[in-house]
Amino acid sequence: MTRSIRVLRVGQRYVRDERTLTHLCLVSRALGAESIFLEDAENDVLSTLEAVNRSWGGDFKAVLGTPWTRVVKDAKAEGRSVVHLTMYGLPLQDVISEVRKLDRLLLVVGGPKVPGRVYHSADYNVAVTSQPHSEIAALAIALHEIQGGEELKRVYEKSRLRIIPSSRGKRVLES
Ligand SMILES: C[S@@+](CC[C@H](N)C(=O)[O-])C[C@H]1O[C@@H](n2cnc3c(N)ncnc32)[C@H](O)[C@@H]1O
Repeated sequence: MTRSIRVLRVGQRYVRDERTLTHLCLVSRALGAESIFLEDAENDVLSTLEAVNRSWGGDFKAVLGTPWTRVVKDAKAEGRSVVHLTMYGLPLQDVISEVRKLDRLLLVVGGPKVPGRVYHSADYNVAVTSQPHSEIAALAIALHEIQGGEELKRVYEKSRLRIIPSSRGKRVLES
């Protein structure tokens, strides 16, 4: 199945957390999502991502400034299933076989505070353990479980740099 996965990070910042937002982008890109929507981020996040795409390939996109309500509405209008990651949801292991059948997904993660409406807008509220942790960790595990490890084998088109996997040291091919 060719799956299309997009990510949405809901929430305004109380503090500058560019590093968290950048890591959400990098994890989404590296683990098989095609784009991420960030409600509130600085352009620095975009320039970091463009630099990563230029060096390491692919065409992952970050979209800044669209309200989450619009992103969810558009996703639903195009038949995309909305999967909200939250510690209060149903255990991932109990719903994963159903979620794996979906070919178009919007994975939603929150920041410090998630509006109640997000829970009601989602088709699935899914917990990666019922313990509090991190949106980056929850996203990484969900992406991995949904794609069953296929995302680990992905080759990125048009890369300038390519790593030659090595048991010791660093080997990088430049083209
Ligand atoms: C700082 S946490 C806030 C924890 C929040 N009370 C919750 O609903 O999960 C920020 C985000 O991390 C994600 N997250 C944290 N723990 C999670 C878990 N156990 N399962 C799934 N997502 C989690 C959620 O997307 C959450 O909005």
